[in-house]
Amino acid sequence: MTSSSSDHSDKQKSKQEDFIVTPWSVKGEVDYDELVDRFGTSRITQEILDKFAQLVGEVHPFLRRQVFYSHRDLDWILSRYEDGEKFFLYTGRGPSGGVHLGHLVPWIFTKYLQDKFDAELYFQITDDEKFLHGDVSSLALTEKLTYENILDIIAMGFDPKKTFIFTDMGYTKTIYSIAANIAKHVTFSTAKAVFGFENSTNVGMVFFPAIQATPCFLPSVLKGFNIPCLIPASVDQDPYWRGIAREIAPKLGFYKPAQIHGKLLPGLTQGGKMSSSQPDSAIFTTDSPKEVEKKVLSSFTGGRATVEEQRRLGGNANICPVYHYYYFLFENNDGEVARIYDDCTNGNLLCGDCKAMLASRVRKFAENHNEKREKARELVDDFIVEDIKGGLVKKRDLEEGRY
Ligand code: TRP
Repeated sequence: MTSSSSDHSDKQKSKQEDFIVTPWSVKGEVDYDELVDRFGTSRITQEILDKFAQLVGEVHPFLRRQVFYSHRDLDWILSRYEDGEKFFLYTGRGPSGGVHLGHLVPWIFTKYLQDKFDAELYFQITDDEKFLHGDVSSLALTEKLTYENILDIIAMGFDPKKTFIFTDMGYTKTIYSIAANIAKHVTFSTAKAVFGFENSTNVGMVFFPAIQATPCFLPSVLKGFNIPCLIPASVDQDPYWRGIAREIAPKLGFYKPAQIHGKLLPGLTQGGKMSSSQPDSAIFTTDSPKEVEKKVLSSFTGGRATVEEQRRLGGNANICPVYHYYYFLFENNDGEVARIYDDCTNGNLLCGDCKAMLASRVRKFAENHNEKREKARELVDDFIVEDIKGGLVKKRDLEEGRY
């Protein structure tokens, strides 16, 4: 091997190891652009944004700002829609702990998609996954977390008539036969290659990808005809669709599910990771208004060591979680976001002021979410589907004699 080609492969290798994105862990500083090539997805083009504008009028800030930035077959599903064939949405949540702002990003986007495309939403809660993977020590605990998480999901304002929430454990009769059909076509070596399973991985985890792929086809099975599926989700979930669902779909006679991939909201601590084991790195929906403010005010920033230096050299918004919170969630006006960026990098805006303004916005948001979350306790029966024949009956339907 010549030295130049070995240099090249070293570079490749260090790039590959620079950051890791799997459904269960995200390490290092994620290069989202590079991920498109690594996963083999497509970028969301101006043409697709124009299509959104044409079909539904409003192009969500997440699209304009490339928070949702990559896809598979989104152009295909939009052109089907244009021709009068409706799609359904599928997303999910692994109940491993409390819900934080980062989890809300794909859900806010899903709500926009449901409203604009008048789409049904199937929402999977993977209680089995979090138990099998070991994030949660017992199934009894996942059940508790599931209830708490469902309140956050309902608080997003999804349409109860068009939204079907289920847990894997609570919906087994309905989903298991589909999962078995999928699993039969997935070899162990594929599962290993796609998910990095090892000999020490428990067999529940090895089977689990079939369960997560199942909702891609569930409405088609329940309704008896093929319905296109669009999955809004963070990009880390892509292996399920790339490696399993899209591979198996043609073998079972279904459409390949389309996806739209989001970026992860950075954490508030240095290094940008948000994690439940580091409570200060994330704002949880159940944090008190005081805690919310405190977390924002003590966030890591891209600021300089002193006010004088900040004025003279400007801050670094690119590495600043505070700036990213505005960019993702807390400033709807694109011009204002650009102003915050410029004022920061020019040294006109000091971190203290920038954080104080964000803190009050996040606090308001959290208070508002919490109100809806409390109201959601009364609405659970309108959203959870019963595991009985037909698959789409809600507890409320039973209570009110509609089934
Ligand atoms: N595995 C996901 C998690 O750990 C939960 C999930 C299930 C999901 N199905 C999904 C996420 C579909 C996005 C889309 O959170």
